[in-house]
Amino acid sequence: MAAGRLAHGREADKLARVTGPRSSRPTVLTVVGARPQFVKLAPLSRALRRRVREVLVHTGQHYDHAMSDVFFAELGLPLPDRHLGIGSGPHGRMTGRMLEAIEAVLVDQRPSMVVVLGDTNSTLAGALAAAKLEVPVAHVEAGLRSFDLRMPEEVNRRLTDHVSTLLLCPTRTAQRNLAREGIDRGVHDVGDVMADAIRMYLPRALRLPRVTGLAPRSYYLATTHRQENVDDPKRLAAMLEALGRLRHPTIVPLHPRTARRLGARKRAAGVHFIPPQPYLEMLRLQSEARAVLTDSGGMQKEAYLLRVPCVTLRESTEWVETLRGGANRLTGTDTRRIIKAVDDIERKRPRWDPRLTYGDGHAAERIAAIVAEALRRH
Ligand code: UD1
Repeated sequence: MAAGRLAHGREADKLARVTGPRSSRPTVLTVVGARPQFVKLAPLSRALRRRVREVLVHTGQHYDHAMSDVFFAELGLPLPDRHLGIGSGPHGRMTGRMLEAIEAVLVDQRPSMVVVLGDTNSTLAGALAAAKLEVPVAHVEAGLRSFDLRMPEEVNRRLTDHVSTLLLCPTRTAQRNLAREGIDRGVHDVGDVMADAIRMYLPRALRLPRVTGLAPRSYYLATTHRQENVDDPKRLAAMLEALGRLRHPTIVPLHPRTARRLGARKRAAGVHFIPPQPYLEMLRLQSEARAVLTDSGGMQKEAYLLRVPCVTLRESTEWVETLRGGANRLTGTDTRRIIKAVDDIERKRPRWDPRLTYGDGHAAERIAAIVAEALRRH
């Protein structure tokens, strides 16, 4: 697959039919749908709206109040212009329904570019719908790889990158991954929009009342929601056993997928299950934890930036830089490995590389400038 390019010649004519006559402020259509995308949207949307007209589409992949609305309210996000209400389902049906619905919005709105973020089914559906109509795609968080195609996210991010025109990478590693796949046009190392979000929101988060009665550094914080972990009862049980055997209590905000898999087993000595948390509350919980245990991508990086040790409940990570110095350790879901990693962290203080900042907290502004410039030249 060739890397996408801004359309020219015959392609441009076709694009003009889709995008219509250009106004002084080009329209960019941003597609979001799942929780981590709402966080990334906060800095991004603000920056984009200073330069372009943004039409916001919410696929409805996440629909519970705690998984969606609360983020829009807390982060002051613009309300979606279109809510597609797709909801859950098997991957093919969910992605297919999104593809059909996004295509209809694109034909109606005729944007000059589509912006997608991260690696969810909403990301892939947005990118594919746009590419089929020859609308250029900008991918925020391009180039990340776990090299594990059993993860739906790895499929989503690879395919999205290969149909994108602008590949907005959070790290040099991501840029190198793309080069290895033959993608070198439209690639920019811009830094990470999640680092922007921390810069914007951490001071507010630290002023919030504490969610639990536990004092700072007296608890671990754990989350698990990856399909490959929680849909396998043995892995889920192994992780929970480890959490119950740690020396300090563990707070576990429960993703709905995990809550459903656990059913009536939401009890374990030393483990406090709480509902999914909004972003600011989660930042505060993370920043005061002794360590974070997680299979989330974003939380590994947040923990790194907050200087909290992390144990990653997976065999691979896209954020390989965090592994140096022992600040992040990969354990998979094996009970003994998890307990040992936490013990190691307690005994030897990890090192955080002060140069590893995931950008300067202004990635969104850089992305907005690149998008605006690409549209100006087009
Ligand atoms: C999705 C993303 C994942 C991201 C995660 C963040 C894909 C393939 N995965 O995973 O990369 O890290 O979001 O949370 O896109 N559910 C609810 N209420 C909701 C949302 C989901 O009950 O508001 C339930 C669904 O019914 C489904 C399960 O949770 O059974 C999984 O939801 P889904 O959106 O498919 O994937 P996530 O596991 O959330």
